[in-house]
Amino acid sequence: MSTLVEPVIRTVKLCKTYRSGFRMKRVQALSDLELDVGKGETFGFVGPNGAGKTTFIKILIGLTSPTSGEVRVLGKSPRDAQVKTKIGFLPESPYFYEYLTPSEFLHLSARLSGIPGQDVEVRVRYLLKLVRMEDAAHAQMRGFSRGMLQRIGIAQALVNDPELVILDEPMGGLDPVGRKELRDIIIGLRERGKTVFFSTHILSDVEMICDRVGIVIRGRLVNTGRLSEILTEEVESVEITVKGLTGKFRKVLEKVTQQSIRSGDSLFLTVRNEEEVERVMAIVREARAKISALVPRRKTLEDYFMARIREAERK
Ligand SMILES: Nc1ncnc2c1ncn2[C@@H]1O[C@H](COP(=O)(O)OP(=O)(O)O)[C@@H](O)[C@H]1O
Ligand SMILES: [Mg+2]
Repeated sequence: MSTLVEPVIRTVKLCKTYRSGFRMKRVQALSDLELDVGKGETFGFVGPNGAGKTTFIKILIGLTSPTSGEVRVLGKSPRDAQVKTKIGFLPESPYFYEYLTPSEFLHLSARLSGIPGQDVEVRVRYLLKLVRMEDAAHAQMRGFSRGMLQRIGIAQALVNDPELVILDEPMGGLDPVGRKELRDIIIGLRERGKTVFFSTHILSDVEMICDRVGIVIRGRLVNTGRLSEILTEEVESVEITVKGLTGKFRKVLEKVTQQSIRSGDSLFLTVRNEEEVERVMAIVREARAKISALVPRRKTLEDYFMARIREAERK
């Protein structure tokens, strides 16, 4: 297969083994990881703690080298100096010198990243506005909440107007409002054609904003694709609420399904297939009771994710 445009991120058979501790025990953090991320994509790298997400990101930004395999970022080695200027990075737990103000810190970051002196002020103002930190721009970061620090971290990652933005667990420690704001920032980046690669163990984050996701478990990429491809449209179960049942019919219905909950004069049933739905309907008709709700439940990313983790544990 020939590709005219090389992807922004490409890894081929990427492996990383750490040796740690007194006995230099081997930890295989990444195994044969192959991934392409195209220009303009928002890609969510999802996996439980210890799956290898941070290791992969450290390789992408050239902080560590793979044990074997290949990695190319923007068509070159991540160690290439020119490539580094086109990447923005937010580490997992950013730390800032707490006596600086956001404005001072971003001025410093802008200068260090080589932005011409006359443009620094405009750039810093733009970033403070983007992450909604204008009001706190001149307060010392001492005592800032996790959410505020995270926003400063994002601003810093965007200081050089990078083509590729890499965020390691950007939603970590944020409250729902903070997460919503961060999602909006990521959506804004996508609208401006940026490629965004972020890791998370929070599934709802990727469901809302990603073009594609990759699921990594124990250093292996177990699946990649659009969420709509990963999660088939198939119905997992149907939730039926029945009203106006007498005791006798309620007992009959409770035997049809494995899951039933009583609440007042309602019976809440979960059935697994069409056949069971038909049986419930027939009994309800006979009982002259009423179905007040019938809700098909599709597979969620959470169901999928948990199933893959269980599979990996069995191996
Ligand atoms: N510097 C290191 N030395 C030894 N082992 C490490 C090092 N960094 C990570 N690991 C191990 O590699 C695995 C993957 O870790 P990491 O990439 O941090 O996962 P994640 O970010 O998905 O939580 C874990 O088992 C972790 O303990
Ligand atoms: Mg991590």
